[in-house]
Amino acid sequence: MTAVPDTQELIRLAIAASEKAYVPYSHYPVGAALLAANGTIYTGCNVENAAYPATICAERTALVKAVSEGQCHFEALAVVTRSGGSPCGVCRQMLYEFAPNLQVIIADLEGNIHTTCSLADLLPHGFGPQHLE
Ligand code: THU
Repeated sequence: MTAVPDTQELIRLAIAASEKAYVPYSHYPVGAALLAANGTIYTGCNVENAAYPATICAERTALVKAVSEGQCHFEALAVVTRSGGSPCGVCRQMLYEFAPNLQVIIADLEGNIHTTCSLADLLPHGFGPQHLE
């Protein structure tokens, strides 16, 4: 059964996740809520590190939580930041592996939606598993 994305609920959960962000260096909290095809929602925040490149973004935190629990099919993602920033390139690539047609909702910490689009819009001509067949 395909889950019905509830945009406002996803944004609400992403905002709640952003409150857990560990951001002593950037002071830029990010929250994500990823809706799996079975209806389960996985949340994530960014987790920074004194060795800066070791930082993991909110979107990948949510994705890795989901995949590590056996979920590999996704419908929608809400990502929230104070500025309505969009997912970075590494996150786009990681998400593309599992859900090239993912609905992406980009919002701010007040819950205002800045953009709604498909992941394929954010990563056109993406490299995916099919290229390795
Ligand atoms: N960040 C995310 O969590 N997701 C993105 O897609 C963009 C960037 C985080 C990483 C870092 O902790 C902070 O935002 C500033 O780059």
